Formats: sequence, C-alpha cells, structure tokens
Amino acid sequence: MKACVRGAAVAVAAAATAAALAACGEGAGNDSGGGNQTKIGVLLPDSTTARWETNDRPLLDRRIKELCDECTVEHANAKGDVAIQQAQMDSMLAEGVDAILLAAVDARSLGPTVAKADEAGIPVIAYDRLAEGPISGYASFDGEEVGRLQGTALLKAMGDRESGDQIVMMNGDPSDPNAVSFKAGALSVLEGRVEIAKAYDTPQWRTEVAHMNMSGAISALGADNIDGVYAANDGLAAGSIAALKANKVDPLPPVTGQDAELGAVRRIVADEQYMTVYKPFAPEASAGAALAVAAARGESLDRIATDKVTTSSGSTVPAVLLTPVSVTIDTIEDTVVKDGVYTIQQICTPQLAAACTKAGLT
Ligand code: GAL
Repeated sequence: MKACVRGAAVAVAAAATAAALAACGEGAGNDSGGGNQTKIGVLLPDSTTARWETNDRPLLDRRIKELCDECTVEHANAKGDVAIQQAQMDSMLAEGVDAILLAAVDARSLGPTVAKADEAGIPVIAYDRLAEGPISGYASFDGEEVGRLQGTALLKAMGDRESGDQIVMMNGDPSDPNAVSFKAGALSVLEGRVEIAKAYDTPQWRTEVAHMNMSGAISALGADNIDGVYAANDGLAAGSIAALKANKVDPLPPVTGQDAELGAVRRIVADEQYMTVYKPFAPEASAGAALAVAAARGESLDRIATDKVTTSSGSTVPAVLLTPVSVTIDTIEDTVVKDGVYTIQQICTPQLAAACTKAGLT
C-alpha cells in the first residue's frame, strides 16, 4: 500500500483525515518534485542509557541513507515514557511513514500500537527489544548469551569461592524482554554456584534506583559480605559501584555490566568494574536499517535475515540475532578500540594514565 493511502487509513480511524492528507501533501508518499520519497520512522526508548542517542541513532541514520537514496528518517525518543512513545508512533502512523524501526520502552504496552500499524499496512521492525504484536522483523543480539557471558565472567572474577559466597543481582527493567533474557542467561550460570543474597529489578534501567538498592543491600548484608555484583548493564553497574564506594567498601567486589559505555570502559581500566558486554553497535544498526529499508520498499526480508524469531502473536518472523562479546581489561584493545568505538586517548583520561600504561593501553 502506498504511504499516503496508509496514512489516510490510519487517520480516518483516528478521525483526523486532514492530518494525513496534509502529510501526503508534504511528501510522505510522493515528494513535491514528483520523485518517490520513502520515510522511515525511528523510535528510541530513553536517554538514560547512552547507547540509544550516542550510537544507535547516528548509525541508523547513516546506514539507512547509505542503503536508500530516496529515504528520509524521522526520529523520536520517548524518554522512558510509554505514553509518549505510543503518541510518537501514532503520529508517525498518521503521517504515513513507510516503515517503523521500534526500540520499545515497554514491549507489552506498545503491542496495540504495533497492531494498529499492521492494520494500516505499515511494517514495524523491532529494534533490539522484541516488541509485542504483529512485527515484520527483528534485529538484536542473543540476550541469553549476554547473561551467560556476565555470569561466567563474574564466577571467574570471584575466583576460588568459599561455600556461602554471596552476590547481589541488579536486574534490568522487567518490561524490557531483553532484561528477562539477560536474567535467565545469568541465572543458568550462577544458580547453585553462589548464593544470590539479594536480587532487584530496576524499572526503566535507572542508575539512581540501582544506587538506592545497593545501599539497601549493603545495610542488610553488611559491607564485607558482598562477594560479587551482577549488574545487567553499565548504568546499573555505575549506580552499584557508587553506592559501594559511598559505603567505603574496599576492595570493591567484581561488578559486571553491559553496553560498553565509555564510563564503563574507564571503570574497567580503573579496576572498579570487572567487565562489560559489548554488543557491536554498527552491525546491529546495519541489520535494523536493512530490514527497515526492505520493509519500507515492500521487499522480502528473508534476503537479509539469517534467523527467525517467534513473536507474541505466535508467528515466526525474519530476524538477525548477533553475538555479544565479553570485555575485560585484557580485551579492551581488541574489541572497542579495534572497532573504532573509542580511541585510547578517549578512554585514558589524565587520571587513568598510570592504569592505562599498566594495561598496555598506550
Ligand atoms: C536493553 C538493551 C541493552 C541495554 C538496556 C538498557 O534492551 O539491549 O543494551 O541498553 O536495554 O536500556
């Protein structure tokens, strides 16, 4: 279906025909020069986690434009608010975009809006997080493998454990299906090997909530009785480490993370965080962009997708599921530096100069 027709259909449903017709006039379907324009909507979840605006957004933009001369990209960031994301997606549907790339704030709550897009013939590609509803494709990483990498690294860092060694688990936002996979993968490695003394979920992946929960764990367990911290991402690691430091826990227990944020890589050099999981941003953005462009053009996604995933509605859709990589002090150079995510100069601030030299990052 043509974008203008689709837009009008959605708007009629929303009793706002004028908006859709105006959008058509503005070139959502055909541009004023008479050439065909293809519009792709990119919906990102929040600004709490650095990756979305710092890495994903510019990479998606660049890759969509590389793959598609006639494409324009429209972005929106929901700032962690489900209602805002629903409204942002509704307005893109009314405008008659040709495809949507959606990293959902809350996979379940966005399901009905995904269904609305489907009824209007606008394909939705789930980006990084498996949104519920009739999506057309999915680009992400193997989430359980992320959790296994974190759990395995934590056990290694804890070394020769004594029975009764205790860890605190800082899990992500349960409304993000990835958080559920990270936790399941981690538990598959940790259960029976260490005692999980405290476990928390963290709504909206908020750093300050992790900080507060870690302070509570320290009061409940005692500062010397936390032998390791499973933190599902780097923001949660940052909050946990800040609370441990504020409570003068020394030495710090090993702490895991995810996302290879610059702050986390620096904490690894400073020996405050044990590891992070690097999910190479460029291949994920490339896969998301390729799926969205093909979907917008009405082409088959099977040419791009190497995997399949089962959606909440039980159908199987084409997917690209990439492999995450564990990063410790020994592998910073071979991973994020080699891939050009950060230079050694960026990582090695003056305060980290000695630690960088020791780690061979020069
Ligand atoms: C997940 C994503 C992670 C992490 C987290 C926090 O869905 O896969 O990379 O960023 O969200 O927002």
